[in-house]
Amino acid sequence: MQTVGKLMKVFVTRRIPQEGMKILSAGGVCEVSLWDSDEPVPRADLLKGVQGAHGLLCLLSDRIDAEVLGAAGPNLKVISTLSAGFDHLALDEIKKRGIRVGYTPDVLTDATAELTVALLLATARRLPEGLEEVKNGGWSSWKPLWLCGYGLSGSTVGVIGLGRIGVAIARRLMPFGVNRLLYSGRTAKAYAAEVNGEFVPLDTLLSESDFIVVSCSLTPETQELCDKAFFSKMKNTAVFVNSSRGAVVNQEDLYEALNNGQIAAAGLDVTTPEPLPINHPLLTLKNCVVLPHIGSATHSTRGIMGALSAQNLVAGLQGTDMPNELTF
Ligand code: NDP
Ligand code: DGY
Repeated sequence: MQTVGKLMKVFVTRRIPQEGMKILSAGGVCEVSLWDSDEPVPRADLLKGVQGAHGLLCLLSDRIDAEVLGAAGPNLKVISTLSAGFDHLALDEIKKRGIRVGYTPDVLTDATAELTVALLLATARRLPEGLEEVKNGGWSSWKPLWLCGYGLSGSTVGVIGLGRIGVAIARRLMPFGVNRLLYSGRTAKAYAAEVNGEFVPLDTLLSESDFIVVSCSLTPETQELCDKAFFSKMKNTAVFVNSSRGAVVNQEDLYEALNNGQIAAAGLDVTTPEPLPINHPLLTLKNCVVLPHIGSATHSTRGIMGALSAQNLVAGLQGTDMPNELTF
């Protein structure tokens, strides 16, 4: 709890939306030290900035591990991440120290699902290739066999990880005339009935789906889940889309699968590393569409995420209920 007349120290690792900064500045709860940049805080500055902090507001690009927690010291009571994903947080170390964690699920579900559908359509219908041909003079006439892709009507879609975002993607895809919606994960979901979802073993999903969408969280179990064996079970005509975390995919195996025609195309909103180096082999492939991790990037969503992350932090500092506390 705050001691009278003394503000609690908070370190914010990046410029965040004004909606969040306003909440942190109001109320006389904390004094904010901000890494005042749109680029990630260098590790050394993170270790320095967090020293003595009671609260840390971080991003998915900040690895919060034992070293950071050690640098922060015993004052640290709350970590608030401006993200739904929390694979960048060493939860075992955080738990040992009794630190509370806030995060921002739900408020970005619609934006991320929408972007994933946009990416799926762009990949399946080859939109980046088409745009390029318009600009480079490759468009000579209407040609019956040119730039054909794959449509959703009558298709089977497989969702890996039918969580908040997974089901929101499914809900948006069904009206395109999807015939079957398969999903895999650890447990069957009652809410899957809403999208006529069939809970199936992963191998069934891989061999029967025309579109595979990855929307699971990154865990030790899902790390490089999508590897050579995974792609080898997919149809040659299938389209793969990932908007979860890059590390769910073995990118060398994905490159091979795309290059040798094992699968038709891939759309990625997330990669390893981020940014993907511009000389990365995946970027040489026409059948691979890569976006710069923009799933939640709408003006309103980012504003709401900023506000929520600040509310979580302030509640954690005050020892009250957070709007979104991670239980772990
Ligand atoms: P949820 O927790 O609601 O969903 C995660 C899903 O992952 C659950 O359905 C869970 O299934 C599934 N899952 C966990 N382990 C496995 C496994 N071994 N195999 C298959 N599925 C598994 O999270 P959200 O839907 O809110 O977010 C999902 C992820 O999306 C986030 O963790 C984040 O990494 C990413 N994300 C990306 C964004 C972007 O900008 N591209 C934006 C926001 C989030 P079960 O319940 O059965 O365990
Ligand atoms: C998240 O929230 O986990 C995303 O990756 C960015 O919004």
